[in-house]
Amino acid sequence: TCCSVLRLGDKLLQTSLINSHLSCYNVTSCVAEMLAPPGQVKFESIDYKNSLHWAAPTNSSCLQYYVQYKIYGELDWLNASNCQGIHRHHCNLSGATSDVREWYYARVRASCVATSSKSAWAMSRRFSPRWDTKISPPTVKLNLSKQGVVVQVKASRVLMRKVHNGVDNNIYVEVYEVASGSRLTLTELKPRTRYCVQAQTVVPRHMKSSDRSTAECITTD
Ligand SMILES: *[C@@H]1O[C@H](CO)[C@@H](O)[C@H](O)[C@H]1NC(C)=O
Ligand SMILES: *[C@@H]1O[C@H](CO)[C@@H](O)[C@H](O)[C@H]1NC(C)=O
Ligand SMILES: *[C@@H]1O[C@H](CO)[C@@H](O)[C@H](O)[C@H]1NC(C)=O
Ligand SMILES: *[C@@H]1O[C@H](CO)[C@@H](O)[C@H](O)[C@H]1NC(C)=O
Ligand SMILES: *[C@@H]1O[C@H](CO)[C@@H](O)[C@H](O)[C@H]1NC(C)=O
Repeated sequence: TCCSVLRLGDKLLQTSLINSHLSCYNVTSCVAEMLAPPGQVKFESIDYKNSLHWAAPTNSSCLQYYVQYKIYGELDWLNASNCQGIHRHHCNLSGATSDVREWYYARVRASCVATSSKSAWAMSRRFSPRWDTKISPPTVKLNLSKQGVVVQVKASRVLMRKVHNGVDNNIYVEVYEVASGSRLTLTELKPRTRYCVQAQTVVPRHMKSSDRSTAECITTD
């Protein structure tokens, strides 16, 4: 065990270890490593909003978390400045991981001041904003006009800002794809008929698309 680094006859140290209930102590680094690391460390990303999530290693209420990140290929870990000594189990890394072309790692460790213990770092898998993000479905609005049913599709504002309006939407009426774009008028419709429309946002530059939105329906006069 790591306790074997204790030198024989180091009575003072052994006594203090027993008193503080530390099961393991690295004399060389003077760091107690008794806390289990956080579990299930993973990035979640929607519309290029990236956050790190993890599970608490114990049910102890004293836990605080420290998050670091780095760009793949770089040596140094950087502190996520807004996620040092936090109690919540997630960290907004959108700012730190804003370059969609890069790959990133993040890691988190737990500490408990009351028992002066720290866990090892728990690392995420490699994360790519570009490949790993999920695009959210657009909102669809329908309006009856003289010309027909006006379909208006809007992708999420956060997404539009991130990809500088480089999005397209596929518009589906019933099960057929009828158009692309953000506005469309459906003409030559049958009267007193219910039409349902769904749409899907596409980011051609990143070869990504959202799920289809929920269907919006309208009945013609
Ligand atoms: C103790 O910590 C030092 C420095 O961090 C490390 O090199 C060494 O491998 C550790 N020993 C054990 C048994 O964990
Ligand atoms: C925390 O407590 C819940 C219920 O009290 C238990 O199901 C769970 O296993 C505990 N988690 C840990 C990590 O001890
Ligand atoms: C990160 O924060 C810790 C304190 O929590 C500090 O010791 C360390 O130097 C910081 N690292 C960087 C790269 O700023
Ligand atoms: C996450 O951080 C980014 C950039 O720092 C900020 O624009 C955004 O509002 C934050 N999101 C949340 C949910 O706090
Ligand atoms: C639908 O029509 C109403 C009134 O004709 C108008 O106020 C509203 O802005 C229209 N909505 C859309 C999404 O075009």
